[in-house]
Amino acid sequence: MTYALELKGLRKNFGKTEIIRGVDLAVEAGERVGIIGPNGAGKSTLFNLISGRLAPSSGEVLLHGQRIDGKKPFEVNRLGLSRSFQITNIFPKLSVFENLRCGVLWSLGYRYTFLRFLSNLDDANERAELLVRQVGLEKKRDVQAVNLTYAEQRALEIGITIAGGAQVILLDEPTAGMSKTETAHFIALIKQVTVGKTLLTVEHDMGVVFGLADKIAVVVYGEIIAFDTPAAVRANSRVQEAYLGSAVADAQGGGH
Ligand SMILES: Nc1ncnc2c1ncn2[C@@H]1O[C@H](COP(=O)(O)OP(=O)(O)O)[C@@H](O)[C@H]1O
Ligand SMILES: [Mg+2]
Repeated sequence: MTYALELKGLRKNFGKTEIIRGVDLAVEAGERVGIIGPNGAGKSTLFNLISGRLAPSSGEVLLHGQRIDGKKPFEVNRLGLSRSFQITNIFPKLSVFENLRCGVLWSLGYRYTFLRFLSNLDDANERAELLVRQVGLEKKRDVQAVNLTYAEQRALEIGITIAGGAQVILLDEPTAGMSKTETAHFIALIKQVTVGKTLLTVEHDMGVVFGLADKIAVVVYGEIIAFDTPAAVRANSRVQEAYLGSAVADAQGGGH
């Protein structure tokens, strides 16, 4: 079968240090994968390798069966993979609507010649209006991004991430810095706007990741030591020894 995303023998060195040490992963279309692991394990680096920000030292990245390793980020994006960053990536002086329209136009810009691009402006406006509603910012449509709350800015960023219609979405710690209430609301939003898409989310809150993901990949020291259902990962003794331990007990024990 063709996977939505496949990593084969992926390795990355920085200087003499091997940070990603032979990662294999196969994600089916429509699957939601949570990626967990200690700080510095290599989760963001993995996303950088997938999204084209970094080229692997060796190994392959396949998107819908097509090799994308070594391609530029915009090329990877054009092929249907979109990524959000830990740092928000919005234009502060532009309104919510304008930010989303930029996201739509940016993705169209690489696909269309200028004339076709112009004839697609109406489509872009329509699509941006839809995105405003999808991320729940109707009431803030004309507010400058800088004047949004933190949680609203993150919602806007999700909108920008999905603006181009990518089928594979990578989110790096989307709920970082949010309160528990904001996090719960935000996870529901992420689930809604990514229905039918393939989603990979780096998340360190165990309660959150176990609620969001169909499967969990555990990254420890540049390797994936487990890739399985949340239940199986909880029960995996290697995972417990290497990393989870009390964190899993907390999530199970309703400590949240
Ligand atoms: N561009 C880089 N150059 C050198 N070292 C890096 C670079 N990016 C990340 N690292 C190192 O790689 C390791 C993994 O980092 P990272 O992928 O950000 O971890 P995580 O996201 O799991 O916390 C860390 O030790 C980090 O210092
Ligand atoms: Mg990181």
